[in-house]
Order: sequence, then structure tokens, then C-alpha cells
Amino acid sequence: MEKTDAEEAFRRFLDERPALETLEKFQELMMRYGAAIREVRTKFEVLNDEFSFRTSRNPIESISSRIKKPASIVEKLRRQGFPLTIDSIEQNLNDVAGIRVICSFIDDIYMVADLLAKQDDITVIRTKDYIFRPKQNGYRSYHMIVEVPVFFSDEKRPMRVEIQLRTVAMDFWASLEHQMKYKKGSADRPDIAAELRSCAETIAATDARMLGIRKRIEQLQKDED
Ligand code: GTP
Ligand code: MG
Repeated sequence: MEKTDAEEAFRRFLDERPALETLEKFQELMMRYGAAIREVRTKFEVLNDEFSFRTSRNPIESISSRIKKPASIVEKLRRQGFPLTIDSIEQNLNDVAGIRVICSFIDDIYMVADLLAKQDDITVIRTKDYIFRPKQNGYRSYHMIVEVPVFFSDEKRPMRVEIQLRTVAMDFWASLEHQMKYKKGSADRPDIAAELRSCAETIAATDARMLGIRKRIEQLQKDED
């Protein structure tokens, strides 16, 4: 007997249901990461507000955030040999939710990172100090993977967030270096790599001098009082 169009459509719907369920679960997980980003962002904003209220100076210049794109999530799971499931995303990836905190001075990075880490609902999973120990290419930033609890209607769930803290100057270097990475491996050329590293060192020296200037001004103000 001939199958009607309606029967055929329903069969197709049943076939596709697992995919639909997966898609819905995926979207729910991304919603949860978005909520985690807002929690952590608010913590940084509160610290910045309090500090600028007390000292009329902002330790944080700006905050940006992103949720990893589906294609990058799949690519990273594949590359690292993890299963392509929703649970696997949460278990194996630390950087689905990402926040970048741009600070004014180098010491602001450590102050802000330390104040966040001390909060009793934050669990620090891992830190990488690429300021104390810059990467071979010159990259500098302070990285943290943290877990923050997010309250939903039926549960409290710890969610992972990757935080990158850097100065305005470090961000300038990292943004341009990132752009140029995609220009066909030219950054692998030793002359270009050496020039990039040298720029990173100039920038680091300038960051240190700017901090020195701020400290001298603070000292002058103290002497006046
Ligand atoms: P990924 O798998 O790339 O996330 O590396 P990882 O898990 O070892 O983490 P790591 O802390 O080293 O780097 C995390 C993120 O920091 C990267 O995804 C980039 O956003 C940034 N990053 C690390 N190294 C560099 C670099 O050399 N240049 C630039 N522009 N960004 C970098
Ligand atoms: Mg990453």
C-alpha cells in the first residue's frame, strides 16, 4: 500500500526527534553558560564599582565575554578525542563560557583575580600566569578557570568559566597577534616571530613604567596629606 504524505512526514519527524532533543539540550546548556557569564561579570563589576568609589580610580577598563560557537565546540571535542555529546561538552571543555577583563595596570590584574578567587562561592579550578611566565611568542595574560554556582528553578549548578585578565597594552598585542595568526603561517617565520616577541617585550616594559608612574603619583599624594 502507498504511504500517504502525512505518514511519511510523521516518520521523518520520529526519525529526527533524537536530533531535536539534542538540539534543545544543547541550547539549554548554552543558556546556562550565558547565565554563568553574567554571574562572573557582575562580580567583577561590583569589585570595580567599590574600588572606584573608594579611590576614584578604575582597576577594570572593560569586560567582554563570549560563548564558544557550536562549530568550535565540535572541533575542539573532535581534536581532543572526546565524545560528541552534550554531557561531554560540560565535562571536558573549560572555555565554553569566556570572559576577558581588561585592567588598567599590572597590579590591578592580581588584585582583581585575588579578590574574585577569595569569594566563597567561587572555586578556582586552575590558573595560568602568562605574565610571570610569558609564552614563547611573547603572549601575556593571567588565565583562570573557575566554577560558579548558578541557581535555576530546580537546582543549583556549578558552571565553568574561563577568565582572561590582561592590561590594555597586553590586549593590544594579543588582538593583533591573533589576527595575524590567520595570515597563512607567516608568524612561524623566525624573523616575524622575533619581531612579535620584541614588540611584546616593549609593551611589557611600558606597562611596568606606567605602573611606576602611578605609584610615584600616589606617593606624592601621600606626602602631601
Ligand atoms: P586552548 O585549547 O587554546 O583553549 O588552550 P589551553 O586550554 O591550553 O588554554 P590557554 O590558557 O593556554 O589559552 C586559552 C586562551 O588564551 C586561548 O583560547 C586564547 O584565547 C588565549 N591565548 C593563549 N595563547 C595565546 C596566544 O599566543 N596569542 C593570543 N592572541 N591568544 C592566546
Ligand atoms: Mg580556548
